[in-house]
Amino acid sequence: MSESMQGLHRTHRCTEVTRADVGKTVTVMGWVQKRRNLGSMIFVDLRDRSGLLQLVFDEETIGAEGFEKAGTLRSEYVIAAVGVVEVRGGAFNTALATGEIEVRVQQLRILSESQVPPFPVEENSQTREELRLKHRYLDLRRPDLQRNLMIRSHVMQEVRKFMTQEGFLEIETPILTKSTPEGARDYLVPSRIHPGTFYALPQSPQLFKQLLMCSGYDRYFQIAKCFRDEDLRADRQPEFTQIDMELSFVDIEDVIAVNERLLAHLWKEILGIDIQLPIRRMTWQEAMRRFGSDKPDLRFGMELHDVTDVVKNCGFGVFSGAAASGGAVRGINAKGQAGMPRKRIDALTEFARGYGLKGLAYLAIQEDGSYKSSFAKFMTPEELSALCAAMEGEPGDLLLFAADKSKLVYDVLGALRLELAHEMDLIPKDQFCFVWITEFPLLEWSDEENRFMAMHHPFTMPMEEDWDKIDSDPGSVRAKAYDIVLNGQEMGGGSVRIHQDDIQEKMFEVLGFTKERAHEQFGFLLDAFTYGVPPHAGLAYGLDRMIMLMTGTENIRDVIAFPKVKDASCLLTGAPDVVDAKQLRELGIETVTEE
Ligand code: AMO
Ligand code: AMP
Repeated sequence: MSESMQGLHRTHRCTEVTRADVGKTVTVMGWVQKRRNLGSMIFVDLRDRSGLLQLVFDEETIGAEGFEKAGTLRSEYVIAAVGVVEVRGGAFNTALATGEIEVRVQQLRILSESQVPPFPVEENSQTREELRLKHRYLDLRRPDLQRNLMIRSHVMQEVRKFMTQEGFLEIETPILTKSTPEGARDYLVPSRIHPGTFYALPQSPQLFKQLLMCSGYDRYFQIAKCFRDEDLRADRQPEFTQIDMELSFVDIEDVIAVNERLLAHLWKEILGIDIQLPIRRMTWQEAMRRFGSDKPDLRFGMELHDVTDVVKNCGFGVFSGAAASGGAVRGINAKGQAGMPRKRIDALTEFARGYGLKGLAYLAIQEDGSYKSSFAKFMTPEELSALCAAMEGEPGDLLLFAADKSKLVYDVLGALRLELAHEMDLIPKDQFCFVWITEFPLLEWSDEENRFMAMHHPFTMPMEEDWDKIDSDPGSVRAKAYDIVLNGQEMGGGSVRIHQDDIQEKMFEVLGFTKERAHEQFGFLLDAFTYGVPPHAGLAYGLDRMIMLMTGTENIRDVIAFPKVKDASCLLTGAPDVVDAKQLRELGIETVTEE
């Protein structure tokens, strides 16, 4: 039977008991990790969120009844124990913070019992994730998840502390709102009072934070829930959290400066690590050219080489053809990988095909200087040695080439570079490589929509020096946008916003919005801008991604208490779920099931 707390007060968390407490009486409470009976003694590892503490029971100290009760303890029972701290009788456990002490229990209460859990509560669980997520409340007892959530809490506190010190105001923006243009699908919430109409959940607080600048709050931040109905990946959730900010009377340098201080503060406070400031910067162009990615992982080299000019007249049709049709031929040099088995190269080719490339050409330079290659037979010895030279290829190297439209070649090689680096174990752990990516293109051509789309969002300011090309060559106009990239992940991004109506109107025109549609969707913001708007700029971090990077996990679910799985459902609660017919009627909604 469960006993109550009556008269008991916890004095310490498990690992708050230290050697300095030897001789003192303490009251500890928590979950039974493990019980061991050694005849006249019973040992129990007690667990709470701070860690483990060894309890020892002997009949002489606790009495016959208490000793018998201790013998009934099972994993995950919740207990309270009162006892005296002693130096361990047995060998010290150096793996534990409390490894030199134990508590000799005088009084035991079983606060509640537990069924046999469906999986053991332990660090680095091998239990499959579906089962763990279904019983997330048990999973969350595991020390690794508890550590992650404690770091998350600590980060949120430090963000608040730092931002407040820097003069930012924490202001909440609505969850039930109108669609915001971050490019994903909206989650919609039907209105009961206005049948047939819907709120959209915010994809970000973007429009509201710009309104706050119009209202004179001048420095805003928020730890904000955002909702995006998009395909999930290892680093994406349908609902996630941003550290969101906006500043008035600033330009790019001001935003970067305050954010470098914020990052340095967080890394110091949370991890004890000094970030080298200023953080390195790289233009979008350079990042693409050298790494095939706008979020380059700079912890290792293996940069791309552009060989279009070298091979444009060669005998290999795949290369010369791509060059002739305005595409590109680029390669990466996998140092020392000439011996890679054919099967593995085929697997890499499949990997490249997954991105839409038609194949992957390879050239392995043997130790004797001869080649193993899928295309060497189409090229002269001179062409081959020029190609190797351009690739900085030496005997023992494996050169891999992609030929197609420039963007596709970048995408494939950018991904291949990461794939190979993992395989070749080139990525140092415990290293934080930050980089600002700047000068993003303002616009991105969409084949699907057959028009230009905003690369960031439609309120992003173009670079003044490019603005005169907005009609003649819109694709070449760069934006005052920046991303903060860490170890190959986009941790955050932002931009200077447009505050001049003529530029904004032109942007809408280029994006294919009619004046009417722009006003329908964003009229409230455009109107606000007619009453005195300060120049402003901002940025948002993905908090979940930041915590992933800090804790070194590759699974976003490991840093969120109650995450959703790939199909956007919650295995714990069963959401999304059907609702009562009555609820639907009130909302004026009828559902149809598609065949
Ligand atoms: P953006 O869309 O780049 O910018 O989002 C900012 C950061 O949020 C994180 N993020 C996500 N994290 C988890 N799951 C998702 N589905 C997800 N989508 C985005 C990323 C990203 O860098 N309003 C602008 C910011 C601004 O301009 O101030 C915005 O939302 O880490
Ligand atoms: P094929 O002429 O199609 O047999 O291709 C000859 C070699 O070129 C094979 O190794 C293909 O994988 C490779 N290849 C085909 N298309 C491309 C491409 N777009 N980029 C790079 N290599 C390619």
